[in-house]
Amino acid sequence: MGAKIRLDKYLANMGIGTRTEVKAYIRKGKVTVNDTVTKSPELKIDTDKDQVCFEHQPVGYVRQEYYLFYKPAGCVSATEDKTHRTVLDYIDAKRKDLFPVGRLDIDTEGLLLITNDGALAHQLLSPKKHVKKTYYARIDGLVTAEDVRAFEEGVDIGEEKLTMPADLEILSAGEISEILITICEGKYHQVKRMFEAVGKNVIYLKRLSMGTLTLDAALQPGEYRSLTKQEIAALSQQTPKEEEREQE
Ligand code: URA
Repeated sequence: MGAKIRLDKYLANMGIGTRTEVKAYIRKGKVTVNDTVTKSPELKIDTDKDQVCFEHQPVGYVRQEYYLFYKPAGCVSATEDKTHRTVLDYIDAKRKDLFPVGRLDIDTEGLLLITNDGALAHQLLSPKKHVKKTYYARIDGLVTAEDVRAFEEGVDIGEEKLTMPADLEILSAGEISEILITICEGKYHQVKRMFEAVGKNVIYLKRLSMGTLTLDAALQPGEYRSLTKQEIAALSQQTPKEEEREQE
C-alpha cells in the first residue's frame, strides 16, 4: 500500500497549485478520485492505488525526485534569494520541496545533487560519513610536492582541528597550476581555505564528484538531468556505517 495523504496536499505536492488554490479547484469540482468528483480536500489518497485527475488529466504521484545539476557560477546553493538565481530557478520539477544537498560557493561550478530526499541528504552530509568530494581547481601560484604532503597530513584552516587527510594531485604546475583535490569533509570554503593555508589562492573551482555521483560530461553549466535508478541505489548504499569506518 502506498502512503496516505490528503487530496489537497497530494495536488499541491505535484505542483497543481498552492494549498489554497487546490482547495478551491477541489470545491469547484475540477478533481476526480477514481472517476468520481470529490469536493473534500481532506480525503485520504493512497498514492499507489488511487487515480487522481485534475481537469480530466491524470496526476500521478512522485514521491521523491533526484537531479544531477551542473551549477554555473553566479547561482546560489539555496532555494530562495532576493538578488541571485538559485538552483531551483534552473530546474523544472514536479515537487516544490526540492533543495540542494550541501553548498557550493557562488563562484564555484559543478556537481550539485538536488532532491527532496531528506534522509539521503543527511547521509551524504553527515560529518561522520566522510563522503568524498573531488574538485578540479586552478591555483594562482606554483603547487608543489610539499603542498601534496601538507594536505595529506592536514592543514590549519583556523578550526579546532587540522583538516582530514586530502588527496592532492598536480595536473600542471606553473604560475597558474591545475590540480585535483579530494576531501572527505565539507567545511565552509574548505578548498579555498586549504590553499590559503599554504599561501595560495584558488582562482577557479569546479566540483567533479560527490561519493559515487560524478558530473555528467554531456551537461553544460546550468543544465541538469534526473538520476538513474542505479545512481540513486549506489548513493544510498555507499555511505559506510560509522562502526565500519572506525575499524578501517
Ligand atoms: N570548497 C570551497 O572553498 N568552495 C566550494 O564551493 C566548495 C569547496
